[in-house]
Amino acid sequence: MTSVLPPGPKGKWRSTWKIVRNPREALEGWVRSYGDPFLVPTLNGPVVITGRSELIREIFGRDPSLYDPFATPALSPILGQGSMLVMGGDTHRRERKLVMPMFHGDRMRAYGQAMQQIAMTKLDDCLARGPVISTLDLMTSISLEVIVRTVFGVSHRQMSESIMDAIRKVVRKTNPILFFSTKTHFSFLGLSPWDRFQAARLQLRKLFNELYEQRQQNPTDGEDIFSMMTAARYEDGESITRDHLREELMTFLLAGHETSAIAMTWAIYHLHTNPAVLETLREELRTLPDRSFASLAAAPYLKAVVQETLRIHPIVTEVLRKLRTPMSLGEWTIPAGFAVAPATVLAHYNSAAYPDPDTFQPERFLERSYSPFEYFPFGGGHRRCIGAAFASYEMAIVLGTILGEHAWELVDKYQVTPSRRNLTMGPSTQVPIRKM
Ligand code: HEM
Repeated sequence: MTSVLPPGPKGKWRSTWKIVRNPREALEGWVRSYGDPFLVPTLNGPVVITGRSELIREIFGRDPSLYDPFATPALSPILGQGSMLVMGGDTHRRERKLVMPMFHGDRMRAYGQAMQQIAMTKLDDCLARGPVISTLDLMTSISLEVIVRTVFGVSHRQMSESIMDAIRKVVRKTNPILFFSTKTHFSFLGLSPWDRFQAARLQLRKLFNELYEQRQQNPTDGEDIFSMMTAARYEDGESITRDHLREELMTFLLAGHETSAIAMTWAIYHLHTNPAVLETLREELRTLPDRSFASLAAAPYLKAVVQETLRIHPIVTEVLRKLRTPMSLGEWTIPAGFAVAPATVLAHYNSAAYPDPDTFQPERFLERSYSPFEYFPFGGGHRRCIGAAFASYEMAIVLGTILGEHAWELVDKYQVTPSRRNLTMGPSTQVPIRKM
């Protein structure tokens, strides 16, 4: 196949920098200059980016065996070979088959009660410290404890606390540039971003290995992911090794807490800058039969609030697939080795699908349904986020619980804008709130 490539900007350093700094501004600017799709040179290789649903359908619908994961040279040293995020082909399929049942929608009921109880305890802790609460801190402490408890269970309380501290440290020491080029993975007297990340990761690894030894001596048959993964067998009868388990569980912990915390913080911000939406939600909460986690998880308007939050602020701005073989995409032919990327940050602002896309309107999700090529905050196809049901469930329960407890107001009146955190985009402030 002869390559026929779309036009796009030049300069991989400049393009990568523009995406790191402000992905929406960069991608929308390139659509205006070159049309959709467009080709962007990046430090992790050339990428054809699109926000058009018919092309996204082609990308998500393509045979998964024709793709490799993106940016494995940069991601593998950070996450480890045992992380699903860097697996491709049969290894990836086999891994998902083992893990998916543990995150299936039916299992959510087992986690709901803990989600609600953690939200209430953390809220009380914050209120005891003073009248102003940082929403991002509150949501991070809730989602971190939720995922640590889901992964490790309730036993070994002190160990869980140490693990949470170690994870916070890893997140603090993870510089976004580490994900964008292997050139940043160098040591310098223990002071480089890579050195600081490695030191934090080593501490987490030690704690995990200790916990693993304890569990080997006193096995539990708990409902936590650790126990389930240790007991589970791959389709060929093999069990998971210690190092593999550690890298996979660390992926769940890291992928599964900051994302949800950011999304819940955005929801609080948008609800409190859109009084009519907040009032509709309050009315729904008032008329629920009770405030149990099951009632909150089933509330339709609350669900629409969660969906609209993830539309207007997609946490991951583009999902990437590297081509093993050339691909025809619309009128273009992309060579092997290039990547293709559906961009939430373009598709979610398409005014044909979402009239007035910059306004927060949960009603749109009650009035019509969107295809997985128009709306994909959790990615799509064979790599769609395994935590999607878990995160949506958690968001509804935590938001419903916090909003049901008290009426709140924003402390600052400034506009909050998206700002880069590692691979994700989060709010530019902590979104402080206080009780009204
Ligand atoms: C609001 C919260 C979350 C958002 C917005 C989010 C978003 C995403 C996105 C966009 C992807 C890439 C999908 C693709 O390439 O098509 C992904 C992958 C992944 N997510 Fe999430 N996620 C969230 C919560 C979670 C949670 C709670 C977990 C817990 C286990 C999790 C675990 C993962 C894993 C393991 C992958 C890799 C899947 C694979 O490569 O096969 N995520 N997530």
